[in-house]
Amino acid sequence: MAKLIVENGGPLYGEVQISGAKNAVLPLMAATLLTEEKCVIDGVPDLADVKVMKGMLENFGATVVDDGNGLLEITASQIRTVNGDRKLVTEMRASTVAMGPLLARCGKVVMPLPGGCAIGKRPIDLHLKGFRALGATVIEDDENEQVIVTAGPKGLVGDAIYLDFPSVGATENILMASTMAAGTTIIENAAKEPEIVDLANQLNKMGAKIKGAGTDTIRVTGVERMGGSIHSVIPDRIETGTFMLAAAITRGEILVKNALPGHVRPIIAKLKECGVEVETVDDGIYVNARDKELIATNIKTLPYPGFPTDIQSPFMAFLTTVKGKSEVKETVFENRFMHVNELNRMGADITIENRIAYIPGGKTLHGAKVRATDLRAGAAMVLAGLAAEGKTEVSEIYHIERGYEKFVEKFTGLGALLTRVDED
Ligand code: UD1
Repeated sequence: MAKLIVENGGPLYGEVQISGAKNAVLPLMAATLLTEEKCVIDGVPDLADVKVMKGMLENFGATVVDDGNGLLEITASQIRTVNGDRKLVTEMRASTVAMGPLLARCGKVVMPLPGGCAIGKRPIDLHLKGFRALGATVIEDDENEQVIVTAGPKGLVGDAIYLDFPSVGATENILMASTMAAGTTIIENAAKEPEIVDLANQLNKMGAKIKGAGTDTIRVTGVERMGGSIHSVIPDRIETGTFMLAAAITRGEILVKNALPGHVRPIIAKLKECGVEVETVDDGIYVNARDKELIATNIKTLPYPGFPTDIQSPFMAFLTTVKGKSEVKETVFENRFMHVNELNRMGADITIENRIAYIPGGKTLHGAKVRATDLRAGAAMVLAGLAAEGKTEVSEIYHIERGYEKFVEKFTGLGALLTRVDED
């Protein structure tokens, strides 16, 4: 098991290049199961989660050719099995997005219950509600910890589906399932995240007829068959936010390149509220927190275009260092405050009541042994370590490696004192 050693080397300074989005690429890869033709995806980040998804696709029968430089060629000429590999599925919650395409193509899918970050209950009831609305039968086989979904005798049939919450994964799954359903499917209260738009763009290149992605009503007109496509992944808005916060928490100055400002509006707005200078420039975002008088702010996480839950913990790490009281309310996930304990080990003094974290602010954090309790919380602990006095050791960094490409290299390239060591 590896860990990260973080020390305060002063403000971070320089340029960083943002990679393709983890949360976009996983569904894009799963979507290739919809066709026997070759699909090319470019700008694919080198991440543990991407490797898991490759393994999943290969298990289903696809051939995945990786040029080692971010380009994948995926051809699922035949589907060998519709049973998800238990080991891979339980490693990564996002593997559930293979359900929609398999159901559409083969009329059946058997999926073990997903794993991933332990942030709240994270059920898949909305995904299943969508499949049922398309006429599928869903058996929740609790004894074998799996779900079995089977299309009706005439295949999937389009219908109107209202999501009780705009779930990203459910929207993606229903979108893919409905591409070849008979008639029209309407997803109401759909998630509006940029990753949904990216997926719809690739699906449309593959021959789907999808309108309204990026709004809360998506309309899919079923087509007979799907074909190959060539598609580039959008930049990772969560990695973008993480480096924006790296500038803020170290009082540094970073040009975040290959970033789309339109995807991180709430992060820009909140950093500006705190007194950080943020400017959108050609091909990126310039963040400057040098010699600024910074002030506290309040944050409430919401589905897109609200403040992203994935940036909640990195932002909280920053707020611990800013003078004045801040409040952070988490409304998307139930149990996404595990990093609070870890930040408190470093002297943050945060309290939680219901779903609100109260941050006294103005702290000089001190180094400690802390855990990466989930993917984004792991990044938050590294950010905290960069601003703390003394040495911070972050363990369980496999969480970080699931979702950040070249994490250590990118940070050290900005002057961070960050080393990865193998734990004995
Ligand atoms: C995706 C992102 C994750 C991000 C999250 C919210 C990927 C791979 N992951 O996760 O990084 O934090 O969006 O922006 O894209 N819910 C239900 N029933 C369901 C599905 C979800 O109740 O069937 C609830 C969840 O428990 C959670 C909320 O809806 O409280 C949001 O979940 P969802 O939008 O589905 O997130 P994911 O797609 O899992």
